[in-house]
Amino acid sequence: MRAGKFITVEGSDGAGKSTQIDFMKHWLTERDIPVIQTREPGGTEVGELIRSILLNEREANFSDGTELLLVFAARMQHLDERIRPALRKGCWVVCDRFTDATYAYQGGGRGIEEERIAVLERWVQKGLQPDLTLFLDVPVEVSLNRARLRGALPDRFERESAGFKEAVRTAYRNRALADPGRIRLVDAGRPVEMVRQEIEKILAGLIEV
Ligand code: TMP
Repeated sequence: MRAGKFITVEGSDGAGKSTQIDFMKHWLTERDIPVIQTREPGGTEVGELIRSILLNEREANFSDGTELLLVFAARMQHLDERIRPALRKGCWVVCDRFTDATYAYQGGGRGIEEERIAVLERWVQKGLQPDLTLFLDVPVEVSLNRARLRGALPDRFERESAGFKEAVRTAYRNRALADPGRIRLVDAGRPVEMVRQEIEKILAGLIEV
């Protein structure tokens, strides 16, 4: 039995996910909807350890398969320990990235076949899918510029080539086109306030369901 709703937020680095997630949490809380905010890879103690391996290991030589299995290992722990229990209690879950990121980064970026990802998705998620996914879409140049302005040390994915980033974006866009009922493509190249207003409308639609 699921009572809460599961919302995931996707986008390139620098698409403005964090700002919009803060807004969403605030918007739901104001309406007395219990909500937890979490992220992938991460969200649990084990998941955060896996995250630091995936993002920070500068010198490590990862095979693509290892990377794929690690994101799903973190996801299994996250679903068992946090996401499913929260949804069962009626809590909404807003998650910064989920399996669409795997199709985009490990599928589109690394070139792993979709079916391999789908096998793990079926095993780990056992049919659980987000009720809503917001894909905050920005052109690669915009995301690169915003990341540069932030000035933080780039992680292992941020250090990838512009070609990798284009492939990630294309994979996200294709998924949004293929499943418009669940994945809402939001043009995040616009001013933050306009993006926020669009997200507010989408959320309002979801609480009426
Ligand atoms: P971020 O959530 O802070 O943007 O960083 C997470 C990074 O991990 C991001 O570059 C995308 C990457 N990632 C994958 O490659 N596959 C996945 O399944 C997930 C959830 C994230």
